[in-house]
Amino acid sequence: MRTIFFIIGCFATSIVFSQKNEKLALTPPMGWNSWNTFETNVNEELVKGVVESFIKDGLKDAGYNYIVLDDGWMSKERDSQGNLIPDPKKFPNGLKTLSDFIHSKGLKFGIYNCAGDKTCGGYPGSRGHEYQDAMMYASWGVDYLKYDWCNTEKINAEAAYTTMSRALLATGRPIIFSLCEWGDNSPWLWAGKIGHLWRTTGDIYPCFNCEFSHGTWSSWGVMRIVNMRKDIRKYAGPGHWNDPDMMEVGNGMTLSEDRTHFSLWCMMAAPLIIGNDIRKASKETLSILTNKNLIAIDQDSMGIQGFRVSQKDSMELWAKPLSKGDWALCFINTSSKSQKLTYNWSSNTITDSLFTFSLNTKNTSYTVKDLYKNALLASTKKPLEASIASHDVLMVRLTKKQD
Ligand code: GAL
Repeated sequence: MRTIFFIIGCFATSIVFSQKNEKLALTPPMGWNSWNTFETNVNEELVKGVVESFIKDGLKDAGYNYIVLDDGWMSKERDSQGNLIPDPKKFPNGLKTLSDFIHSKGLKFGIYNCAGDKTCGGYPGSRGHEYQDAMMYASWGVDYLKYDWCNTEKINAEAAYTTMSRALLATGRPIIFSLCEWGDNSPWLWAGKIGHLWRTTGDIYPCFNCEFSHGTWSSWGVMRIVNMRKDIRKYAGPGHWNDPDMMEVGNGMTLSEDRTHFSLWCMMAAPLIIGNDIRKASKETLSILTNKNLIAIDQDSMGIQGFRVSQKDSMELWAKPLSKGDWALCFINTSSKSQKLTYNWSSNTITDSLFTFSLNTKNTSYTVKDLYKNALLASTKKPLEASIASHDVLMVRLTKKQD
């Protein structure tokens, strides 16, 4: 009898204290967000064009499904009842119609707001209106909320984000909750129980390794973002992800740099949120973003965030343990010249001491697949030889050989 009460008690407790929809984002969310390219210049036609491109250019087939409107979708004031109003010039048919359209194409709809009084762009924030706004989003059929951190002076981050998380849960609609407080309050320590992803850093900038100053704050190139946080991979996993920001693939870096950026996001099990004008993307950009070999690394069901194994002579090696004993390895040439790589499998054992996996090719032999060329290379019985262009990668998947 006591055992039964204990089980019922645990079950009830988990219902009462569940603070987020636990079934969402079991692999890192994939989609598109308007901010990196359009800032607040969003409108219905843009969103419809993105939806069309998702279908026509194979993005939906590759697994991208959330179309997220960032800052700038609202009117500058709430209505007399305190409700948010979509900007009637940008969205003449309202957001419910747009959301129905997105859903009719088998995609999902995301939106943006902020924990402060105002968003970063000066539109009405959700502070004091959390439940009202969440109900409004649910009535529009919103599936994803990105929640920012401007104009929040002196409020407690964990408490503010918990309020919005509860408000989303109370709607009864499954809504992914994406926290965006730039890593300022170490969200990896507390956000896993209330949200599905959290930004780890400030804003990304489309360069390989630069800092771009906006005066009082900076945005950061790909390698800067990657190097900014240490030891937080243990906090990522199915349903709760470290988010190094939306991607800049196709936004002005070289193809090599775009490949490196995309590879690192996949190695880090990062949310794959496209940030370019996908309607006008080149076929090279599309082929990076829709590379199914790479996406499978990001979306691996174990959800382990990869790690840097070594860094020597401007050559980095990253590793990510995958399900069924596979491994993804990424060799990155960070120098300004192309470099030759010779990697002797038998003299290198890779150990993931945090998640207790080890890649030892002495006793087991693996096939090695080049994920961009989609071609098998020599197995781990022979050293890996390659030439890697400046700022480019060699991205391989190892699978145990059946012999
Ligand atoms: C920033 C955020 C960006 C974008 C912008 C909108 O705080 O990091 O990704 O959402 O606000 O104003």
